[in-house]
Amino acid sequence: MQRREFVKFCAASAAAAGAPAVAAADALPTLYGRARLVGENGAPLKAAAVPAERNLIFHYPFAATPCFLLNLGRPVKASARLVTADQRSYEWKGGVGPRLSIVAYSAICAHQLAYPTREISFISYRREKSARNKFANVIHCCAEHSQYDPAEGARVLAGPAPQPLAAILLEHDPKTDELSAVGTLGGEMFNQFFAKYEMKLALEGGAPRATADTTSVVHELENYCRQQVRC
Ligand code: FES
Repeated sequence: MQRREFVKFCAASAAAAGAPAVAAADALPTLYGRARLVGENGAPLKAAAVPAERNLIFHYPFAATPCFLLNLGRPVKASARLVTADQRSYEWKGGVGPRLSIVAYSAICAHQLAYPTREISFISYRREKSARNKFANVIHCCAEHSQYDPAEGARVLAGPAPQPLAAILLEHDPKTDELSAVGTLGGEMFNQFFAKYEMKLALEGGAPRATADTTSVVHELENYCRQQVRC
């Protein structure tokens, strides 16, 4: 979605809200700086080169906040009407890219903020069912088994999470086939994330609340993280 279209979307949402009660309940997109997604070699990541059903990770809108980039391997055209934990509604618009199959979400679990670190990850996309995962093709957090549907805006399918994962808004340039992150939609957990982990992140080096650069490197989760917890 182009930035201009976002602005139109915001204006349309506000206009459509009409009645004050609806306007108060809408969660509108939050626009951050644009970050072009690049591969580990620094070259722009082409949408056509995003492997299907692989866990890819990048950081946005802060240098310390991880996100999943997923090519679900099939068009995700349908939008989804979702609600945050504080009862603000919003509409997630589906996938982007040449096949409308690419989606992105914050990788910070909406329950108790488990997230992929360099050492370990409890949360990731799982194609297969398992003993603790009765759904296939979900983002599953093994901490307390929250499961999210990436084909429906990360709607909560199971577990204690009180809201979907925040969606990361992507723009796809059809001329160059490049992808950029431009904002978020839904229930952000960044304030809670920094309140819980700021000291840990600071000890690991860097400035935890620094905003993401104008480019964000996309990694395979298995390259980024030493141990992935399966359940
Ligand atoms: S932190 Fe993810 S389910 Fe509890």
